[in-house]
Amino acid sequence: MRIYLDNAATTPLREEVIETMTSVMRQQYGNPSSIHADGRAMRAIVEEARKKTARLIGASIGEIFFTSGGTESNNMAIKCAVRDLGVQRIISSPLEHHCVLHSLEAVEHQGVVIELLRVDERGRIDYEQLEELLQNGLGTKTLVSLMYANNEFGTLNDLERISKLCENYGALFHSDTVQTMGHFPINVSKLKIHFLSCGAHKFHGPKGAGFIYINNEAQLKPFIDGGGQERNMRGGTENVYGIAGLARALELAYGQMEEYRQHIEDLRSYFMEQLLENVEDIRFNGDYDGHYLYTVLSVSFPASPKSELLLLHLDIAGISASGGSACSSGAEAGSHVLKAINADPARKSIRFSFSHLNTKDEIDVVVEKLKAVVGVRKMEAVA
Ligand SMILES: Cc1ncc(COP(=O)(O)O)c(C=O)c1O
Repeated sequence: MRIYLDNAATTPLREEVIETMTSVMRQQYGNPSSIHADGRAMRAIVEEARKKTARLIGASIGEIFFTSGGTESNNMAIKCAVRDLGVQRIISSPLEHHCVLHSLEAVEHQGVVIELLRVDERGRIDYEQLEELLQNGLGTKTLVSLMYANNEFGTLNDLERISKLCENYGALFHSDTVQTMGHFPINVSKLKIHFLSCGAHKFHGPKGAGFIYINNEAQLKPFIDGGGQERNMRGGTENVYGIAGLARALELAYGQMEEYRQHIEDLRSYFMEQLLENVEDIRFNGDYDGHYLYTVLSVSFPASPKSELLLLHLDIAGISASGGSACSSGAEAGSHVLKAINADPARKSIRFSFSHLNTKDEIDVVVEKLKAVVGVRKMEAVA
């Protein structure tokens, strides 16, 4: 049995989600746009999923639009805000996922001014600089795009504080909530936010399914032109199985969020303790003991020819983890976010990310392997 510690890249599907999806696959095949009974049955599944999703995040039904996942939702928020809402300036950070950063580059070519906030060595943004920029740019239509949790080392942004600043200075607010959805509660009826994004595969749902929340106050035009699906925002016959699976996975995640959180927090602390006690010269990246996403632990190992090949050694030993962001895995091009927080380039960082399915026994196996490859910590001489 392999040990899977790459849950920030993707998570295994839950059995209940597989059941929901396969039962739709077996029993229904109509096109949700068809007006006959077969179509109406499929439409009902999509609308039931929308209702469930909206309820869980405190949105109204008309504010949820199903997409292919986080990447599409982030592209849509940024590009449509520029095209349809007259956004002239976007404030973001160098720690965003590539789907946000590359969308920013795309709109920069259209003349939008992009300002990236300073970040400190733990990956925390500079809130004072954010306020200064908002204040100085009053009168310039501004979108603030800041993720909830960083996907490589888990540092959390304070969405409430950002939301208040945006409200005070009349800016739109988009947050990439792909890593936190299903792991932290979010309630858009209490938190003023215009756009947020979700990919179901980060909380034991299917790949290729997600949604974007668009606040009723932000009226966008279609992102994909076509047959008028998703209330004309996204043409194309709906991924009904994926949508049904997404809603089921989100419902389960919310239902057991506290229980899972406790289990994962315990595993993460145990892993940290064991690493510090047993393995040579361990450090952690990000705000690992401050405001952090509990499913992620980014570990920095000392430079050595062996640690260069650490991921490979782990893989051969049956352990899946990731070097930085898995979305660009294979290409060991160096992580843009570790660079942005000035992490020592000579050291090797590995992201371990957990789910409720992981166990302490698995952590013990991983620590043993790391001791063998990186080296056992030398105990201080006892006086
Ligand atoms: C922070 C963040 N945003 C966006 C994405 C992309 O989401 P998706 O895989 O659903 O397109 C990821 C995936 O790793 C992510 O971690």
